[in-house]
Amino acid sequence: MSDSPLPTGFRRGLTSYGDAAFSLFLRTAFIKGAGYTDDALSRPIVGIINTGSGFNPCHGNAAELIAAVRRGVMLAGGLPVEFPTISIHESFAYPTSMYLRNLMAMDTEEMIRAQPMDAVVLIGGCDKSVPAQLMGAVSAGLPAIELVTGSMLTGAHRGERVGACTDCRRFWGQHRAGTIDAAEIAAVGSQLVASVGTCSVMGTASTMACLAEGLGLALPGSASPPAVVADRMRIAERTGMTAVAMIGARLTPDRILTAKAIENALRVLLAIGGSTNGIIHLTALAGRLGLAMDFAAFDAMSRETPVLVDLKPSGRFYMEDFHHAGGMIAVMRELRPLLHLDALTVTGRTVGEELDAAPPAFAQDVIRSRAQPVYAEGGIAFLRGNLAPGGAIIKQSAASPELLEHEGRAVVFEHAEDLARRIDDPSLDVARNDVLILKRIGPVGAPGMPEAGYLPIPRKLARDGVKDMVRISDGRMSGTAMGTIVLHVTPEAAVGGPLALARTGDRVRLSVRERLLSLLVPEPELARRKHEASSAASPDPAAADRGYLKLFRQCVTQADQGCDFDFLRAPKITGSVPARR
Ligand code: FES
Repeated sequence: MSDSPLPTGFRRGLTSYGDAAFSLFLRTAFIKGAGYTDDALSRPIVGIINTGSGFNPCHGNAAELIAAVRRGVMLAGGLPVEFPTISIHESFAYPTSMYLRNLMAMDTEEMIRAQPMDAVVLIGGCDKSVPAQLMGAVSAGLPAIELVTGSMLTGAHRGERVGACTDCRRFWGQHRAGTIDAAEIAAVGSQLVASVGTCSVMGTASTMACLAEGLGLALPGSASPPAVVADRMRIAERTGMTAVAMIGARLTPDRILTAKAIENALRVLLAIGGSTNGIIHLTALAGRLGLAMDFAAFDAMSRETPVLVDLKPSGRFYMEDFHHAGGMIAVMRELRPLLHLDALTVTGRTVGEELDAAPPAFAQDVIRSRAQPVYAEGGIAFLRGNLAPGGAIIKQSAASPELLEHEGRAVVFEHAEDLARRIDDPSLDVARNDVLILKRIGPVGAPGMPEAGYLPIPRKLARDGVKDMVRISDGRMSGTAMGTIVLHVTPEAAVGGPLALARTGDRVRLSVRERLLSLLVPEPELARRKHEASSAASPDPAAADRGYLKLFRQCVTQADQGCDFDFLRAPKITGSVPARR
């Protein structure tokens, strides 16, 4: 057996020409065409993933970040090499960004593996980018460090501070209710996004930024600096330097991303009042490691982990305020007794060591103590019942307290088009205590599980002042949304989940206290409906002619497996997270 070291730098992963020496000669000749010296080419190589795109204003600072990362890599003696991957923006991706997350994860994984680099800096920010990059990098196995683009600044409308996208929904709701006219909603639209960067509230992008830090896969303190401030650029420089150090320390993702790291991230998700999308992405990430998400254990964790961060949509403030209040270091310090302090981070130090070295705490009113939380339990509760045998979730911290225990009559929409056609029909038979149900917006059905779970309040009720109703679907909702909204009903209606059997007029019961979601229809009647549905000729929900849609429909898993492709998960599930106590 040879004891020669594994190839590094440009010697890594040579193109197959049948003659390794010739492959290296050819590669070197080509890169020299770009003006590199032999000295530069002998350095450890740090790949920098560029997800800048004209269609992605959330990554609009990518060029400045890359310049700062390059500086950091060179200061540490490495050679930075930038390369592109797919870029996904929430509002520009059809049919929905989630449909493309796994494609971006595959692109990230394969381009890291295909090109000669010793470590990689993942620059991403908009909702699906960070999970896609983490999933891909973990599977690729090289030292990897996430650098988020950072949040946008807030704007102002008529003296009121505004930011995307909780305020987008609030103002749009007022426009639908007729209290804001066309001119004013257009004026608001010019102020909601005051700079490049990701949404300014605790939406999915901010959540994933915090989770990347909580997982140990991004620098301590890196989640919160806004996109356009000096702190963000300094973090980028330090990220480049850290990537070089990770090569020497052989700090591969498997050493950082352990079950303990995922547990830490779950704590963070609950304590920040994070996006419901966070649980799907962490489930997918765990699946890559061969770990199943234990939702009952997660729910037990939720009952003992209060929401500490007072950010919209659960609270009052914006990401800029979160940064000024100390960001994730302040959150992790408060969570300290609940965290695995021995979990490793990209710095080579443990979470506990990083907290010991962090600057001292100071008085502020954005990140609360556990003794005086924003919400007594974690932001997300896990539900079960005959409507969701595989589970469902609700962001209880962003719901109306009076609706958390609710029984009402179902008003059912069969699919998204049915909803669009009827929701604002003045003749729609609907009352404020009814429960709105939308079917077939799950992973397979829509496809891609769009963020359509935030069903609009029927216009005629909105005009009567109704702001919230219990809404249930097999889809997702934006992390910036709020309301009493049950999501991720599993299995989804399109693959025969019981949600498909719900009909207008049925009674539905939601009890967050009992973690219950029930269709109050006798079992024989449900069996009769099921038989009726199975005898009716219906199209195969997984059918698709060709291309990525075919791959997606045939291989996407349900929400309880993170909607990853089945062939991208670890071949064997060997454990579960979080651990039961
Ligand atoms: Fe990109 Fe909100 S749209 S983070």
